This record gives sequence, structure tokens and C-alpha cells, in this order.
Amino acid sequence: MQVSVSEINDIINKEAMGDGSLIAALEEIQERYRYLPPEALILASERLGVPLSQAYSVATFYNAFSLKPKGKHCLHVCMGTACHVRGSPQVLDRLESKLGIKAGDTTRDHLFTLETVNCLGACALGPIVVTDGEYSGQMTTQKVDALLKTVLRTEAKE
Ligand code: FES
Repeated sequence: MQVSVSEINDIINKEAMGDGSLIAALEEIQERYRYLPPEALILASERLGVPLSQAYSVATFYNAFSLKPKGKHCLHVCMGTACHVRGSPQVLDRLESKLGIKAGDTTRDHLFTLETVNCLGACALGPIVVTDGEYSGQMTTQKVDALLKTVLRTEAKE
């Protein structure tokens, strides 16, 4: 997705008119671009009167923010202890192999980002994969294949 400086400026201007919340501006930019482009941090820092180091600290402190472009679909594999003993390493291997990326990476077409997380608090359902916020429990390598097919089928229709 092409980064538009004027669009980023519009978002920041909107926040600057209100209480000037850096986090609110960054949240909106993250939602729009699925990451925080460097120019967004610089503009937010200048327009909201916040030191760039502070904007960078906020951007790296919160997990919701990313400085790297993310894929349209985010897959999170739980690697907590309960999910691990129930097979999440095999599930992760399968996803890495099918997508051709390692955990923490995004596919070249920016369709998928694969990440690992620790316990999601639903251990009895493990291993768990969360796709764009939707939980899938008792995952297996076969279910991973079906999950990816479903996402790709949905993409083809859009
Ligand atoms: S270890 Fe995966 S949900 Fe708890």
C-alpha cells in the first residue's frame, strides 16, 4: 500500500485539533497502513510537539504498533506451554512451509504476516491459531491447510 504523506497529515491534523493524542494518531495510522511508516513518526512528532524519541518509544513499546509493514491477514500461533505440548511447533512449521516465511515475517505479496504469541488464555483449546482476531482451536497441520485455503478463497472473491 502506497504511503500518502497528505493522508498521514490529515490524520495527525485531526488529532492535533483534539487533545493531540500521539497514541490515537498512531493507532489510526497503523490501522490505515497496517504499520507506522517512518514519515508518520516524524510528522506526528513535529505536528503534535512530541520529541521523535518519544514517538519512537511509544511505537516500539505497544505490541499493537509495528514499524514493519504487515500483511493483510495476520496469523498468530500460540506457543505457550499447553499449546506447545499439544503440537503448536508442528502447526507453526506447516504455516512457515506453506507461506514460505518464518515467524515474524510477512509474505512478499503482503497478504500474510505470521507471528507467535504466548498463552492466549484458552489452553484447553490448544494448539490455537488466531487469524485476523478469530480463534481456531485444536489445530493440526491438516487444519492449517484448510484454514489457508479458506482465506485464499475469500481473497479470490474480493
Ligand atoms: S498455551 Fe496456548 S492458549 Fe494457553
